[in-house]
Amino acid sequence: MGNDLLKGKKGIIFGALDERSIAWKVAEQCHAQGAEIILTNAPVALRMGKINELGEKIGAEIIPADVTLNEDLENLVSTAKAKFGGLDFVLHSVGMSPNVRKGRAYTDLNYDFYHKTLDISAMSLHRLLQTCYQMDALNEYASVVALTYIAAQRTYSGYGDMAEAKSMLESIARSFGHHYGIKKNVRVNTISQSPTVTTAGSGVDGFDDFISNADKLSPLGNASAEECANYCVAMFSDLTKKVTMQNLFHDGGYSSMGAVD
Ligand SMILES: NC(=O)c1ccc[n+]([C@@H]2O[C@H](COP(=O)([O-])OP(=O)(O)OC[C@H]3O[C@@H](n4cnc5c(N)ncnc54)[C@H](O)[C@@H]3O)[C@@H](O)[C@H]2O)c1
Repeated sequence: MGNDLLKGKKGIIFGALDERSIAWKVAEQCHAQGAEIILTNAPVALRMGKINELGEKIGAEIIPADVTLNEDLENLVSTAKAKFGGLDFVLHSVGMSPNVRKGRAYTDLNYDFYHKTLDISAMSLHRLLQTCYQMDALNEYASVVALTYIAAQRTYSGYGDMAEAKSMLESIARSFGHHYGIKKNVRVNTISQSPTVTTAGSGVDGFDDFISNADKLSPLGNASAEECANYCVAMFSDLTKKVTMQNLFHDGGYSSMGAVD
């Protein structure tokens, strides 16, 4: 699909860890559509993951940043601004819950971990947007997309405190979308993706059931990471300039289903 939908556009992609990561597919697809990209991830992910491989493949600079640290985001955004002049799109594809990772039940959460979950998975979107806003780093009609999950609206027992993180993430997209829209016509949306086999996804208790149940219920079946990447390209392109402050379900119809015969 070489349509140059993002020709001349420049952006930052957070969260490519390995080739299963949704962000990895988004980076590949944005590159194929003509975009120039800076990749970023936490320093530990740079050491453990395969992001360097992706950087070489798509000719992207890699700048480490822990999304919980103001100074890391300031360094990332100012470097990107100096390199690109201004940014046309940003993908926030970041999520982590120490409670989920350590198998803590929702009725036995560790509150230090809970803070970390919210900081990494939700407040980071605010931190990123505020950094861009204060540095005036986003161009007119730039598009910011954060990935979310339907556990923000409905209860999935294994999703733990990530449910609150996703609710907060979606709320931040709406609130900042209002402010940044008024300031500079910047669009801010969340895409609520089907369960997808990745490192973060597989950490969720009962994940295989999530996947097969959702697939059975969705008239079009689960959306893949590649299909999510295509949707992100559409959201970064000029074809969706008036879409903002939305939570967009990308799930084969799952979110509108009740029961099946
Ligand atoms: N996999 C799914 O089923 C699914 C479904 C819906 C939404 N999502 C969301 O998609 C996004 C990407 O997840 P994924 O499934 O591709 O898994 P992934 O594990 O490949 O990506 C998660 C990324 O978050 C990064 N990260 C964690 N802590 C960080 C920190 N402090 N600073 C910077 N980066 C940090 C990780 O290094 C990793 O690259 C997440 O927001 C996730 O919640 C995933």
